[in-house]
Amino acid sequence: MKLPERGRPADEVFATLEAYAGGDFPYESGRAFSHVFEPDPAVSALARRAYLRFLTPNALNPAAFPSALRLEREIVQMMAAHLGGGPETVGNFTSGGTESIMLAVKAARDRFLGTAGRRPGRVAEMVLPDTAHPAFHKAAAYLGVRAVVVPVDPGTFLADVGAMAAAVGEDTALLVGSAPSYPHGVIDPIEALGVLALERDVWLHVDACMGGLMLPYFRRAGGTVAPFDLSVPGVTTLSVDLHKYGMCPKGASLVLHADRAHRAHQLFAYTAWPGYALLNTTVQSSRSLGPMAAAWAVMNAMGDSGYEGLARALMETTRRLVDGVRAIDGLAVAGEPDFTLLTFYPRAGGGGYRLADALGRRGWLVQPQPAWDGLPANVHLCVLPGNVGHEGAFLADLAAAWEEVRTATVPIAGSGNAAVDLAGLMSGLGVSPDRLPDEMAPINELLETMPPELRTDLLRRFVNLLYG
Ligand SMILES: Cc1ncc(COP(=O)(O)O)c(C=O)c1O
Repeated sequence: MKLPERGRPADEVFATLEAYAGGDFPYESGRAFSHVFEPDPAVSALARRAYLRFLTPNALNPAAFPSALRLEREIVQMMAAHLGGGPETVGNFTSGGTESIMLAVKAARDRFLGTAGRRPGRVAEMVLPDTAHPAFHKAAAYLGVRAVVVPVDPGTFLADVGAMAAAVGEDTALLVGSAPSYPHGVIDPIEALGVLALERDVWLHVDACMGGLMLPYFRRAGGTVAPFDLSVPGVTTLSVDLHKYGMCPKGASLVLHADRAHRAHQLFAYTAWPGYALLNTTVQSSRSLGPMAAAWAVMNAMGDSGYEGLARALMETTRRLVDGVRAIDGLAVAGEPDFTLLTFYPRAGGGGYRLADALGRRGWLVQPQPAWDGLPANVHLCVLPGNVGHEGAFLADLAAAWEEVRTATVPIAGSGNAAVDLAGLMSGLGVSPDRLPDEMAPINELLETMPPELRTDLLRRFVNLLYG
């Protein structure tokens, strides 16, 4: 494609965009169990208005746009108060969970290595459970930090603090815990990790990207929520995504620090060039104020009562789904979900991927997860506001989908022969860079026969083709 020789009329341009969107998942259907966090129409309309009003100002320069500083400070203060912070708590607005995590890892690394090269030639290490989000591995790869991965307890899926303690060494810069972890929706024992962090004088990051906003309301609504926030001794940083259960438009997350001294390690400044003094709090430099203004607007429009009402609805829907899945003969829920994330699998082992496909054929967007450490391939749900009221329809379809998978006669795919070239593999499986097949089970089953390094490499090469 080339740039059009002359600019096209606005209506025509927008009509083309609408046509492109035609193939996207209809998230308003209430059938998406991932990706889309949308508040009620009135709050959503306000978010759009605020976003557009602040689309053009640049958050890079709070001297030119003081609203940037004011919005960011107020958002941080609201969340610090919500998440056990005190007068010392500081933080910054970022583009998402990955950026918040990246900044926390960078700060921990720099504290460990010391700005003046206190530990020359050393490589900072991060000790983390195997359920921690891949954003930590991305941070490790980008920042030259070594990830020391510790398996979680295979029964509860909780971080094994004893094993993590054993993995802490001279080069450990930080520990990681999740509230909750993505794959199984359980809250790691943050208090015990805090004790370990204080004993060994290491940084502790709590990844509350998913749960940070809602968990305090779950507790208020009578749910059992283990301590996880900044009030826990030993917690140094915490990430909380506003663009998840904060219901804010995407591009909105926070990294909160126990105090300013720790946050100092996060910042980047450069003045040794002939241009302007570059002073960055985040990875991004120039950025629209739209996401920040929209987040501020949504948080004010929702208020405590709005979020609490949402938490109660989500808790109830999740409970119905957990009970409903457990009532289906042959299916089981992994562990005891603490939040809105739940994972279920065929008790007998095989068929998890096919179950995901069978639900997809019935119009549900669910995520298949691979077999891991004794748990077979499974289906993951992230219960969203849009799903509230659709649990009955989902459970009926799940029962039918499971019956179809359980009684199917097609053998499980997967040759086990991983030594195939990418183009041959893709065409053999019906994948083209333009379109993924509707049935992903044969591909997932084949990928599962490969060691993680090989499947990572294969998928990376596939993405390299996908983006042209
Ligand atoms: C627990 C957890 N941490 C971090 C992230 C990364 O967030 P983002 O996609 O906003 O970068 C996610 C995303 O799902 C998550 O579930």
